Amino acid sequence: MDLSAFPRVTLGSWPTPLEDAPRLAAALGGPPVLIKRDDVNGLGAGGNKLRKLEFLLGQALEQGADTVITFGALQTNHGRQTAAACAKLGLRCELVLTAKVPMAGEAYERSGNVVLDHMFGANVHVCADAEETVQVYESVNHERAVTLPVGGSNGLGTLGYVAAAVELVDQLHERGVDNATVVVPQGSGATAAGIALGTELLGWPGTVHAASVSHAKEDAQNELRQLAGDAAELLKAETPKLAHVTVTDDTIGPGYGVPTQDMWHVLKLFAETEGVILDPVYTGKAAVAFRRLAPASEVPVVFLHTGGLPGFYGYAPEAVAQF
Ligand SMILES: Cc1ncc(COP(=O)(O)O)c(C=O)c1O
Repeated sequence: MDLSAFPRVTLGSWPTPLEDAPRLAAALGGPPVLIKRDDVNGLGAGGNKLRKLEFLLGQALEQGADTVITFGALQTNHGRQTAAACAKLGLRCELVLTAKVPMAGEAYERSGNVVLDHMFGANVHVCADAEETVQVYESVNHERAVTLPVGGSNGLGTLGYVAAAVELVDQLHERGVDNATVVVPQGSGATAAGIALGTELLGWPGTVHAASVSHAKEDAQNELRQLAGDAAELLKAETPKLAHVTVTDDTIGPGYGVPTQDMWHVLKLFAETEGVILDPVYTGKAAVAFRRLAPASEVPVVFLHTGGLPGFYGYAPEAVAQF
């Protein structure tokens, strides 16, 4: 697979570390555990969106854009990383955010990712519902603008995680690990889709488990399949079979962005065994699935840490009440 044909800007530090997590493995009582640290890739407090944005903004610059418009929930990590990338590249950033998570208060509405969006110089528009989101989006100046989908998830953005799959498989191989179970959070889908497609194109024998944090299982599966198919088409590869991929939705709890008690427990587990901080919306809920799957795995288990630390501070009062 040749990714060099696509315009790309460098935004993060690569490769990200692949770390042993022996104390976490001992606590889970199963096979060796590794954490792929896509939370510590640099720009704007880091996270998984940088890999997608390298391709999305590479194309935007090639098209001569000077403005980027994108969407998300109030505490969107994608919006914050897009704002940081735009700051670095000298692009205007319009964040059209929707108050779709039933959380309120100063921390959720103004701190965490939101304050960083402002610091990175983005124009932040907060909309009450989908209707207002459309109106505000239409009212923003579209001259020389590109619009990125929620989460940066389209075929092109998915290529960022195809590249990540190649990086991860190389790092595992260097350690003598040629088969593993990879657990990935799934929101808008391109992260899981890229890992799924990349590992299939490499003919890797391991499995990929996507833990949906927002969509019901069938929708999440369809989204993953669609994005992997779109990315495969860009690579002029066959539609992937994805037989090595499973998707679950049973750790979402009451809904996207709504904390669960299992999530808080697993945040504490990662923190007290490895000093690793997960976030309440994505990695925390995916790690609940990871905690369940890991002990039964006969091969090493990799947790893909996709970032989200600023989002943790959006939930500061809830975290304080827990710990
Ligand atoms: C920290 C974090 N992890 C995981 C995800 C999910 O990634 P994707 O949207 O590619 O499924 C997101 C995206 O919103 C995120 O911010």
